[in-house]
Amino acid sequence: MSFLVISSSLNKGSRSAILGKECFKLLEAQNQKVQWLDLREVTLPHCDGDTCYADANVAKVTKMINEASCIIVAVAIYNFDVGSSAKNLLELTGKAWSDKIVGFICAAGGKSSYMSVMGIANSLMLDFRSLIIPRYVYADGSAFQGDQIADDGITKRIDELVATAIRLNKAHHS
Ligand SMILES: Cc1cc2nc3c(=O)[nH]c(=O)nc-3n(C[C@H](O)[C@H](O)[C@H](O)COP(=O)(O)O)c2cc1C
Repeated sequence: MSFLVISSSLNKGSRSAILGKECFKLLEAQNQKVQWLDLREVTLPHCDGDTCYADANVAKVTKMINEASCIIVAVAIYNFDVGSSAKNLLELTGKAWSDKIVGFICAAGGKSSYMSVMGIANSLMLDFRSLIIPRYVYADGSAFQGDQIADDGITKRIDELVATAIRLNKAHHS
């Protein structure tokens, strides 16, 4: 029973990465077995449905996903959807997501894109029977001062996401 926090934005000043790191630290502080995967630190090919599956980094991230029972994905919101780096990761790793508990942390430019994770959530549920944590974290630019989270409401949502993830992960494996 272990956790994986994935930071999927490729932006070097990524705000979703800041939120994801906070989630990772909270899981560590609660003595959970947790790994961190930052897609800025591992070069992945674009999914071509063919030769990409032979890539060593694809094998590496697939193993990390396979080993986790609960995965929290921090995403950038692009064009009312998750950024393509997150979608590409799902395309590359497919079945590794089967039966996982999955939570989301989003960074967006504005407040109106809050339903943007539904496409990937539906795909995870229907393709891989993932159990989606319904209360996800969604932060716009106003939640940050520099590289710090400056909104108590967002901090509380991360606390709640972590608490729910731990509770569901235990229940799923009891
Ligand atoms: C190509 C592109 C598309 C974007 N589309 C949206 C959008 O549809 N809705 C929104 O609220 N913000 C949008 N944004 C703003 C990003 O969500 C925002 O910059 C966010 O901080 C990105 O996450 P990151 O900081 O983790 O990379 C877009 C930004 C880019 C570069």
